[in-house]
Amino acid sequence: EKGGYKHFMQKEIFEQPQALSNTLLNRLPLDAESIPLDLPFSDADLRGLSRIHIVACGTSWHAGLVGKFLIEQLSRVAVEVDYASEYRYREPVIQPGTLLIGITQSGETADTLAAMKEAAARGARTLAICNVMGSTATRQAEATLLTHAGPEIGVASTKAFTTQLAVLTLLALKLGEVRGTLDPDLKAGLLQGLRELPAHLERMNALEPRILQWAQRWKDADDFLYLGRGPCYPIALEGALKLKEISYIHAEGYPAGEMKHGPIALIDKNLPVVALMPHDAHREKTLSNLQEAAARDGRILALVTEGDTGLAAIAEDVLEIPAVHPWLAPILYTVPLQLLAYHIAVLRGCDVDQPRNLAKSVTVE
Ligand code: F6R
Repeated sequence: EKGGYKHFMQKEIFEQPQALSNTLLNRLPLDAESIPLDLPFSDADLRGLSRIHIVACGTSWHAGLVGKFLIEQLSRVAVEVDYASEYRYREPVIQPGTLLIGITQSGETADTLAAMKEAAARGARTLAICNVMGSTATRQAEATLLTHAGPEIGVASTKAFTTQLAVLTLLALKLGEVRGTLDPDLKAGLLQGLRELPAHLERMNALEPRILQWAQRWKDADDFLYLGRGPCYPIALEGALKLKEISYIHAEGYPAGEMKHGPIALIDKNLPVVALMPHDAHREKTLSNLQEAAARDGRILALVTEGDTGLAAIAEDVLEIPAVHPWLAPILYTVPLQLLAYHIAVLRGCDVDQPRNLAKSVTVE
């Protein structure tokens, strides 16, 4: 059932090219057609949206943060992202034209369901992004966009996350298209990027031997710091969560620009700093943050765009990632971080698929 893999998590990491293809199937338009996303909302409904609230927990919340970036950039609708456990109790302000998006792989997370219910009771329209057809979230929401990741058995979420990112990209494109805020070149670039993603993800799997070397070198570290900016900031959070939950090593993710406001005090020669630096609008800023980290002896493990030598002099090790549209980088840059957490956990003898204290779906508060 693990198809030759040692763990479900490893299998599910390697299944991502297929999971992405399945999720994108029939949802990418040919040429000038509009995005064929199957939603029960009319174009007038989508044009009438005044704001979007996204609620989720854990890894799905990280997807929500990337979703905020994409939806705001492409459709100019203001998006708030909240932890479901906070949102449900803070008497959220729902104005006319609010769409609530609940992101939940299982469709059974108690806090997310309750937050969705709370918003609906206050008049929001509701949309679930979910991996399980027929789950409570899909029955409770007015509309559902399914991720087609296939069953995810490993407790740590992997392919469910990257497929959530793909669906959020499509949704952001759709909103931008209907609301007339989407630049045609940008649309064409992102659609082309989505088409090429499964093949790029396939290439990412070849990075595993290099990641294994990182894991061997750093498996005994007490802490890790993950840094990113823009759409890769949530990926820094996600990388840190993956490491924490399966290897029990303390890790934090931060927006790189926030480093100097506190976390920089942690940096010394024992701290691995995993840096996400795709060649995008944030690159120069991230580079200068990393130079500061290196000046304090931080050990930088960098993920950069193929051919980018900007960190060669200061990083301990650099992994080159295929060039993609910068707003699709989150999907690609997630994979090495999943593999890093996986291999560190295996080397430390942890139960990767069933980490201590965690359940696959959290149906109680
Ligand atoms: C982390 C992880 C959890 C879930 C969270 C929400 O790897 O799996 O953080 O993402 O419990 O679960 P869903 O998406 O099922 O609502």
